[in-house]
Amino acid sequence: MASSQSLTTPCLRGRAHAPCCRFVRALLVATAAALVVVVVHADGATTTTAAAGGSAAATDDHQRPKIPAIFMFGDSIVDPGNNNNRFTEAKANFPPYGQDFPGGVATGRFSNGLVPGDLLASKLGIKELLPPFLSSDLELKDLLTGVAFACGGSGYDPLTSKLATTLSSDDQLELFQDYKQKLTTLVGEKEMTQVISQGVFFTVMGSNDIVNNYFTLPIRRHEYDLPSYVDFLVSSAINFTKTLNDMGAKNIAFLGVPPLGCCPSQITLGGSPSRQCEPSRNQASQLYNSRVSKEIERLNAERSASGSKIVYFDIYYNLLDLIQNPASYGFKDVSEGCCGSTVLNAAVFIAYHSACPNAIDYIFWDGFHPTEKAYNIVVDKLIQQGSKYLMM
Ligand SMILES: *[C@@H]1O[C@H](CO)[C@@H](O)[C@H](O)[C@H]1NC(C)=O
Repeated sequence: MASSQSLTTPCLRGRAHAPCCRFVRALLVATAAALVVVVVHADGATTTTAAAGGSAAATDDHQRPKIPAIFMFGDSIVDPGNNNNRFTEAKANFPPYGQDFPGGVATGRFSNGLVPGDLLASKLGIKELLPPFLSSDLELKDLLTGVAFACGGSGYDPLTSKLATTLSSDDQLELFQDYKQKLTTLVGEKEMTQVISQGVFFTVMGSNDIVNNYFTLPIRRHEYDLPSYVDFLVSSAINFTKTLNDMGAKNIAFLGVPPLGCCPSQITLGGSPSRQCEPSRNQASQLYNSRVSKEIERLNAERSASGSKIVYFDIYYNLLDLIQNPASYGFKDVSEGCCGSTVLNAAVFIAYHSACPNAIDYIFWDGFHPTEKAYNIVVDKLIQQGSKYLMM
């Protein structure tokens, strides 16, 4: 049962103070354990800071430092439950979501099990789950190893999150500001700065902007044609990334959008009798990806002198490979969602409905979101792509 406290503290900025006191109390109670974490951490940090200061060791592959923390900005692909206490349709804290999560709990993750933040955190040897920043029971060790600021329904276009009554990308940056303040209160500014300058920041948005806002509703289509909307989105995404970098994030993994026309809901809207991917949404995804990846490269070139690494990661061909070669990954169904295949087969619209009995055969869990099995493969490929960069 939700406590009355959590009902009054929805996915909004400005609730930094009460949880802060809780963290201080937790720190006092668990002083010994917490100090060990801080000391070990500060130790590793010293080494890396020296390397980043320009010595030859900075690029030594064999001495690649362990990533201390990861952070996740984005939408429902990577939201582990930040919308749970919000009044929005973009939530997933009820069955059938979570049926394959440890304990079968629906945590707010938009899948049958783990989502990419969890899989990245565990595959990079950091921790098993990446918690939502707005969770009411975060401890110091959770803050030191990273959290997710992502909210289902969000996007780089500020109108996208308004339509879904969720947090915008700028609001997520405000949560990050709250995070920095909290951690500073607990461990001091120097340690906080080390955590964020050595952590890896993922940003995973743009899908809701293109699919919901532009194509489905289609609010933005009245104002923009596709190329000009894509330019607006790219500008907004680059502004977001610059601000994140200005706030102290040095290692930024910027993910493009997947082949959006291949989501079951978009195939249904496209009306292909043989359930082929819908071509105009895939073209829009490619146009956005090609423009944003060039701008990310440009931004990286501009800012690399200050020790920042801002890297574009492809998710389009990464996921398309599963869709085009399902058998080689053990999938039987590529175009239907286990929980249905329309825009209404997701989030609150399928609360307490039953899922298919064989989720393991499916790439997609609902009308929009992949299964844990698909995420697992996609994340392995991301880590392979990233092994040259970002210490991954
Ligand atoms: C991005 O920032 C620039 C410079 O501040 C501004 O002119 C532009 O309007 C911003 N783009 C968006 C989409 O907000």
